[in-house]
Amino acid sequence: MEKLIIRGNGPLNGRVNISGSKNSSLPILAATLLTKEECVIRRVPDVSDTNYLLQILRSLGAEVERASGTVTVKCETIKSEAPYDLVRKMRASVCVMGPLLSRLHEAIVSLPGGCVIGDRPVDLHLRGFEALGANVRVEGGNVIVKASELVGSEINMRGKHGSTVLGTDNVMMAAALAKGTTILEGAATEPEVVDLANFLNNMGARIEGAGTPRIVIHGVDELHGAEHTVIPDRIEAGTFLVAGAMAGTEVTLRRTRPDHLTAVTDVLTQCGHSVVTKGDTMTVRPGSTSTGADIKTEAYPGFPTDMQAQMCALFCLTPGISVVTETIFPQRFMYVAELTRMGANIQMEGATAIVHGVEQMSGAPVMASDLRASAALLLAAIKADGVTEINRVYHIDRGYEHIDDKLIDLGADIQRLNA
Ligand code: EPU
Repeated sequence: MEKLIIRGNGPLNGRVNISGSKNSSLPILAATLLTKEECVIRRVPDVSDTNYLLQILRSLGAEVERASGTVTVKCETIKSEAPYDLVRKMRASVCVMGPLLSRLHEAIVSLPGGCVIGDRPVDLHLRGFEALGANVRVEGGNVIVKASELVGSEINMRGKHGSTVLGTDNVMMAAALAKGTTILEGAATEPEVVDLANFLNNMGARIEGAGTPRIVIHGVDELHGAEHTVIPDRIEAGTFLVAGAMAGTEVTLRRTRPDHLTAVTDVLTQCGHSVVTKGDTMTVRPGSTSTGADIKTEAYPGFPTDMQAQMCALFCLTPGISVVTETIFPQRFMYVAELTRMGANIQMEGATAIVHGVEQMSGAPVMASDLRASAALLLAAIKADGVTEINRVYHIDRGYEHIDDKLIDLGADIQRLNA
């Protein structure tokens, strides 16, 4: 198991290239199951989650080639059962269910287990498949979804914590080859859903309204191969913006989609930092005097839950009191105890963190608990006094492409060691 050793040091400065979106790549790669023809997907980040998904595709029978960021997939003959050993490693594996059901009229995929960021059910995905006419049962830890045919229907995708991103993706993929028209109400509006819909439309699907809460899918008889370039990763970009505001003199992000990041840049500017956008580049400079802010996670275009921990790390070192409320995954605060070990002053009240800014944090051995939590610890460590050791870094490798190398290029002092 690897660990990162970070020596808190001088400021970050320079330019960083943002990778393609992990959360777009996963459903887009799964969507290649919908056609026998070859698909070429560009700008797929080299992170362990995309590697897991490619392993699942191979185990289902796909021919997969990967050359740097470009992945070529051909799913000429595929089977309907995804192996437990691979699926259990990544909850997002559930997104193969919709395409398998659509193409083969059957999908057998293990039910995802518990997740460290909280209870993550798939009831809304299954409700959508049922509304399209599928029969759903759970047997031996697997979800078995079968349909003699899928027929368009009107489906509400909203649950008690709002819309579901992968659920919207899954049902949209299942409906792409269904008979007739499907209307998704309460659909997730995240840019990753739009990216998937654009790819599906390139494959011959007829999907309208992606990016709004009402998506209309006119089923077609078959889909063909297509090429696609994945959108920039807005969470990786947001993480580097926060890094620049926390520990930078001037950090420029290249290959971004600034329009996907307004919720994050609004908070940073409200706190007194400067973010200047020019085309697809964004430059962040820390404010000479900064203040805290109150944030509440919401579905897009609100403040993303996937940026909650990183912003909290910034607030730990910002004068005054900041309030962070999580509404999507109320238990997503495992990192708070670790930041506290580094000297942060955070009080929890239910799903709200009240952060009292401190002048300095100090390095300590800490444990990463999930992907975004590890990013928050890394940012805090860069700014802390002394040495921090982050264990369980496999969490960060799930979703950030070469993050230590990118931060080292900006001037951070980070070493990766085998524990
Ligand atoms: N939910 C249900 N029932 C369902 C599905 C979801 O109640 O059937 C609830 C969830 O428990 C949660 C809320 O609905 O409270 C939203 O969950 P959602 O389904 O939207 O999450 P997801 O699609 O599984 C994606 C991202 C997450 C990101 C969330 C929210 C991928 C691969 N994952 O997950 O990303 O936090 O949307 O934006 O796209 C990450 O990258 O670190 C990450 C966790």
